[in-house]
Amino acid sequence: MKHDIWKLAKRVLACSLPLVLLLALAACGSPAAPAATASASTSPASTAAPTAAPTAAPTAIATEPPAPTGEPAQQPAPSDGKVLVAVFSATGTTKAVAEKIAAIEGADLYEIIPAEPYTDEDLNYYDRNSRSMTEQSDKSVRPEIAGEPLDLTGYTKVYVGYPIWCAEEPRIMDTFAESCDFSGLTVIPFCTSGSSGIGKSGRNLAEKALTGTWLEGKRFPGGATEADVQKWIESLG
Ligand SMILES: Cc1cc2nc3c(=O)[nH]c(=O)nc-3n(C[C@H](O)[C@H](O)[C@H](O)COP(=O)(O)O)c2cc1C
Repeated sequence: MKHDIWKLAKRVLACSLPLVLLLALAACGSPAAPAATASASTSPASTAAPTAAPTAAPTAIATEPPAPTGEPAQQPAPSDGKVLVAVFSATGTTKAVAEKIAAIEGADLYEIIPAEPYTDEDLNYYDRNSRSMTEQSDKSVRPEIAGEPLDLTGYTKVYVGYPIWCAEEPRIMDTFAESCDFSGLTVIPFCTSGSSGIGKSGRNLAEKALTGTWLEGKRFPGGATEADVQKWIESLG
């Protein structure tokens, strides 16, 4: 239903994306009490053999080590090892894209599950006091992730997916970024949204993670097809 509301909003405001973003930010930006919570768990699901390794070097938005010296960005790590798709998805839209990526890449799928699941009420972005809105209004909140911390041993490439909340990454993604060691990995953000772009969310995550070679991410609409996803993956090199 919320997705439909966003789609409706998108239609109404289609002639003015900046206005849409302004409205989203206005709705999400009010200061409110922190509402820390949840954690994630794992639901590895995966499968087949990894596909051919990308050879090109898409734009890196942050690298490891974290650049205290201002050194130039490293090239993405070679991806001749295993591929993982890690995703947080409150209502299933981003997970659907993640599953397409995993199928195309022959990747494992890991679902970032909040220790405290988000209810419909929690996700009500019309209520500035709802859990999601109070979390988004406080950049220090780190909702807990269920299960053990993700072990990325053996992977060389990780796709990281999430919905856009208030024009940014959900705070639980900050938890995820800070809890993983992406050393030696190429990390590729992706997201879904009603209309907002990926914005600074991928860069924000890279800054939180401190490790890994983070590439520019990609925003998909809710109805992204496998062909859309395939085209993007091919564009990565
Ligand atoms: C709390 C909250 C805030 C949202 N903020 C935005 C936003 O700023 N811009 C936007 O285009 N969509 C926004 N959305 C819509 C979601 O990004 C969109 O429905 C997304 O595809 C949901 O993905 P999921 O099903 O994987 O959770 C928001 C949704 C929620 C629940």
